[in-house]
Amino acid sequence: MARVSVRDVAHLAGVSVGTVSNVMNHPEKVSDSVVDRVHDAITQLGFIRNDAARQLRAGRSKTIGLVVLDVRNPFFTDIARGAEDKASQAGLALTLGNSDESVERESAYLDLFEEQRVHGILISPFGDITDRLAALRARGIPAVLVDRSSGDDSYSSVSVDDVAGGRMAVEHLLEIGRRKIAFVGGPVEIRQVSDRAHGAQDAVAAMPGATLETITTDALSVLAGRTAGSEILARAASDRPDAIFAANDLVAMGVLQALMLRGNGLNVPSDIAIVGYDDIDFASAAVVPLSSIRQPSALIGMTAVEILLEEAADPSIERRQIVFQPQLIVRESTSAEG
Ligand code: RIB
Repeated sequence: MARVSVRDVAHLAGVSVGTVSNVMNHPEKVSDSVVDRVHDAITQLGFIRNDAARQLRAGRSKTIGLVVLDVRNPFFTDIARGAEDKASQAGLALTLGNSDESVERESAYLDLFEEQRVHGILISPFGDITDRLAALRARGIPAVLVDRSSGDDSYSSVSVDDVAGGRMAVEHLLEIGRRKIAFVGGPVEIRQVSDRAHGAQDAVAAMPGATLETITTDALSVLAGRTAGSEILARAASDRPDAIFAANDLVAMGVLQALMLRGNGLNVPSDIAIVGYDDIDFASAAVVPLSSIRQPSALIGMTAVEILLEEAADPSIERRQIVFQPQLIVRESTSAEG
């Protein structure tokens, strides 16, 4: 008979896993009626808590560590917001670390969270950290990958189908009649970038006569986008793309700034259409409101914390890869009339 998990108890009692964890560890935080419901469910299901894991976590700090790739990117602050909302509902705080796409900084934050014996770790990985996360798990510190699938089932993850997102972005540009597409983004070592480029290639391959040029940037930043936009602007008109798919909205904003420099006579979208990725708040506020591929960033953060709490309460629970679907948001930067 399959082992009863903490999730089964939560489902039968009609509460969250975090509440079951609180009933077992901090019943004073929970109403008597809910405590009774949870205890009844535990009895009915014959749930046996994993005391060894609980012992390991004894004295764990009441924080969750989150490491993001670039704290300047509103996409990640939206993820942090969703994660913090869910963490605080479970009586936990969130410590935010910025790896800044550096292996050394990423490792330093994992060291810090291990020293702090955090309740668990959420991370959007830059380097290959699977061995490091295995060592942390052996010490009773679970981890969930954010914004990136784990590629196997060794870790749970919450992400968006970036290949589908890249394909969606370029199919939209093709639908408005563009055929000379440029993908602007990098470094390609970031899986999210390479997956989006892969989707873009799939879309172009399906459209006879369409071409895709890749302009690799050294970062996913406004400055990197501005540099790429200036390079495009310096070309002869016949050498320029008629549409740009930027790997994220920050790069798209930089490209837009460069192309819209006063006096260069270029118009977005009529001369060059632009679509970004993430649909951060600034996308709609850009000088030419930006079409973008929306990621449910706050929901990604909340879902990752939910899974982390389950694994912290019951390390033997099966791992899950949650993949959300992206959504195309059309604005002026690709309007067909443009
Ligand atoms: O920083 C990496 C990029 O991937 C972000 O802009 C966001 O799109 C994430 O998914």
